[in-house]
Amino acid sequence: MLSLLSILSCAAGAAAAAVPASTNLFVSSYSGTITTLSLTQSSSGTYSLTSKATSNGCAPNPSWLTLDYPNQVLYCLDEGLTSPNGTLSSYKINTDGSLKQVQKANTISGPVAGAFYQNPGGQRAITLAHYTGSDVSSWDLTSNGTTGAFTFNQNIPFTLPHPGPNPARQDAPHEHEAIVDPTGQYILAPDLGADLVRVFSFDNSAKLTALTPLTVVPGSGPRHAVFYKPGGSACKTGTTYLFVVTELGNTVTSYEVTYLANKGGLSFKQVYESNTYGNKTLPVGNAPAEIAISPDNRFLVISNRNDSSFSITNPDTKNATRTIRSDTLSTFELQTNGSLSLVQLAPAGGSYPRQFAMNAAGDKLAVGLQYGSTVVVYNRDVQTGLLGTVAGAIHIDGQITCVRWDQETFDGTYANA
Ligand SMILES: *[C@@H]1O[C@H](CO)[C@@H](O)[C@H](O)[C@H]1NC(C)=O
Ligand SMILES: *[C@@H]1O[C@H](CO)[C@@H](O)[C@H](O)[C@H]1NC(C)=O
Ligand SMILES: *[C@@H]1O[C@H](CO)[C@@H](O)[C@H](O)[C@H]1NC(C)=O
Ligand SMILES: *[C@@H]1O[C@H](CO)[C@@H](O)[C@H](O)[C@H]1NC(C)=O
Ligand SMILES: *[C@@H]1O[C@H](CO)[C@@H](O)[C@H](O)[C@H]1NC(C)=O
Ligand SMILES: *[C@@H]1O[C@H](CO)[C@@H](O)[C@H](O)[C@H]1NC(C)=O
Repeated sequence: MLSLLSILSCAAGAAAAAVPASTNLFVSSYSGTITTLSLTQSSSGTYSLTSKATSNGCAPNPSWLTLDYPNQVLYCLDEGLTSPNGTLSSYKINTDGSLKQVQKANTISGPVAGAFYQNPGGQRAITLAHYTGSDVSSWDLTSNGTTGAFTFNQNIPFTLPHPGPNPARQDAPHEHEAIVDPTGQYILAPDLGADLVRVFSFDNSAKLTALTPLTVVPGSGPRHAVFYKPGGSACKTGTTYLFVVTELGNTVTSYEVTYLANKGGLSFKQVYESNTYGNKTLPVGNAPAEIAISPDNRFLVISNRNDSSFSITNPDTKNATRTIRSDTLSTFELQTNGSLSLVQLAPAGGSYPRQFAMNAAGDKLAVGLQYGSTVVVYNRDVQTGLLGTVAGAIHIDGQITCVRWDQETFDGTYANA
């Protein structure tokens, strides 16, 4: 009875959204562009994936997109691969899906991911993880984010006393992502160089303060992470888990999260670990990248790069190379005790799935293939979590870094919690 009540009181996160006939996606590429794609369903049920518009304002090296869906503002990070600084840009999304740049500002070098948060007074801000700059920055969203205007708040630089066990990749701290916890009180930043997941609180001025971090296995190189609430994404009570994917260690590790008294930070207890193939044999050279939870809160998906496990028919029907090698997407079923059960190893659609995103209904998964220069949209069975046929695929020039649905989606990252 008790557990039924707690499920009911916490089950608000997972309503299936209606499938619109046409949905836009935004795609960033190191070639300098943000491309607006349209996935359109015909009356016979088949899909077409076409390019609608291109923006160059985030050049030279767009690395990440963060979408403020309610305000229809898209933030783009430019990693600035050959310049001393990166940039943060904001765009208003026009009704036709094209983008109008609002603002662009220099940042510390190498921003690769961003997340929205809200200070205790209800004002929104964005925090960025800087890979090459060894830094976490924060930016206030003017007018609470409605216009796309923003102002600089803070840089928090980090240093390493000596290189990590993998000196080529761990010469310095490398912040790789920023995510917000389900209560909206803390920001976490996996640091690939320092083998830490950094933890920050923030105050009424949205200024971050570094707290005691989570220390992971030396040399494992944590890259991305997601939170998991078994009671549902809207659940404010019950156990909280954190899943961390390591790029150098090829692991996915689950931690039970404890909230310390007086907003003093978080503590972590490991409850599960496997390789990103669910402990099946990993191909040499594998380097996991993205981790996300399905909108119904039942499955966890991880992208593996450079494992070349599959030989597939090129999903891009216009590409003359008909048979290609493909890397892998791993799907796990989430267990309420924080462990994982492998469901499927499926082709990612080509080479180097740096990032992917499920749509709001959870019946599509779009993959950005960095070296394949292709976006592939897979059909996904919401009941079983299995990836299936290709709904659409399209070539985009350059190395693809990020793909976002123009929808309110939940993937285990929280904003404005
Ligand atoms: C640009 O990069 C330089 C060198 O790292 C740094 O000192 C400066 O603060 C950066 N500018 C901004 C606006 O972050
Ligand atoms: C800012 O926007 C968020 C939702 O996006 C809202 O919850 C919050 O109340 C807003 N704050 C202010 C001060 O308007
Ligand atoms: C996966 O293998 C590692 C190393 O042998 C082991 O520590 C871990 O417990 C295994 N995980 C599962 C879920 O079997
Ligand atoms: C890919 O894996 C191969 C081993 O199969 C390795 O030699 C190579 O360095 C890896 N490449 C990248 C870019 O990770
Ligand atoms: C977690 O739950 C799964 C599925 O019910 C079970 O197989 C596993 O042994 C449990 N793990 C622990 C550590 O209790
Ligand atoms: C064709 O596909 C291959 C393999 O995915 C890819 O490397 C290449 O860039 C594609 N070419 C075009 C023109 O799309």
